[in-house]
Amino acid sequence: MKRIVSGIKPTGTLTLGNYLGAIKQFVKLQQKRIDDEFFLFVADMHAITTRQVPSELRKRTLDIAAMYLACGLDKERTVLFIQSEIKEHVELGYILQSNTYMGELERMTQFKDKSQRQETSITSSLFTYPALMAADILLYDADFVPVGDDQKQHLELTRDIANRFNNYYGDFFVVPEPLIPEVGSRIMDLQEPNKKMSKSDEMDKGYISMFDDEASIKRKIRSAVTDSYAKINYDPENQPGLANLLTIYASIADRSIQDIVNEYKDSSYKDFKEDLAQVVVDCLIPIQEKYNELIKSQELQDLLDRGRDIASDFAFKKMRKCKKKIGLGRK
Ligand code: TYM
Repeated sequence: MKRIVSGIKPTGTLTLGNYLGAIKQFVKLQQKRIDDEFFLFVADMHAITTRQVPSELRKRTLDIAAMYLACGLDKERTVLFIQSEIKEHVELGYILQSNTYMGELERMTQFKDKSQRQETSITSSLFTYPALMAADILLYDADFVPVGDDQKQHLELTRDIANRFNNYYGDFFVVPEPLIPEVGSRIMDLQEPNKKMSKSDEMDKGYISMFDDEASIKRKIRSAVTDSYAKINYDPENQPGLANLLTIYASIADRSIQDIVNEYKDSSYKDFKEDLAQVVVDCLIPIQEKYNELIKSQELQDLLDRGRDIASDFAFKKMRKCKKKIGLGRK
């Protein structure tokens, strides 16, 4: 039996990129790996590395939990929880910070990008964030971590930290492997296809939110930037906008990109976009309906309580052993 762990940070709105890069992969893995255990959490501690409005943070945290389930996770087989409800994440995060070098954190491209954008008032937790992320994973002896491409570097650092700890203190942490989908691991912005689709973006035309209504989805796909070649072809270098749309189609429909290209090779961009818009609508609207049923339900609260209890039990035991290994405390 293997354990699969992943998380999403409740900042901005959840996008189609989060769904295709992470949530959908998680659902597929769950269907494929019936003997494995699945731990999934909302990384709210990660959200506060940048300023959040408390009421919005709390709402988004629950939104993500409900969305995970609405996307088709098996309720019985998922340990669904909220990161801040398990205090051991922060405790282990500090211990792992003490096993992480400044130089390693300085090399993280996400930190570099974010700090460049923000320029002033950069918090120290934004800098040490990857050590907390490593704790999220190592705390639960995760074998596999399904994530999008942008988290690859953080996963590599997690592996380095785990190996370093194991080398010094003796085998203790499972060294996790990232699972990055072949198609859909990097969904790009619809207006600037050289940039990742991001939930923190101000330009709402560039991303599809998981909460967008039918009209908005269609409008955004129709106005997605393409090129003047007027030929349906998969060429990320010269036709990045179109390549992104083909990727979205293939990823939602669980088909190969080549298959989609073959089907549409004689179509106009307009017709292709119309069909794609419908594919996205047909995918998102039923998810939204399930989300609406879940968000105010007692069932969601019960599942989060159960998830908290299971995760907490696991985390408590792992931390007790961890402190012993390091020499912290009296016994
Ligand atoms: P976050 O919240 O930014 O993103 C959540 C997941 O969505 C993926 N993703 C994308 N995939 C494809 N195309 C995109 N445009 C796109 N944008 C985002 C991300 O790769 C991620 O898998 N630090 C993490 C959250 C986290 C975590 C963890 C993940 C905290 N602890 C432990 C795994 C394990 C983050 O900020 O992801």
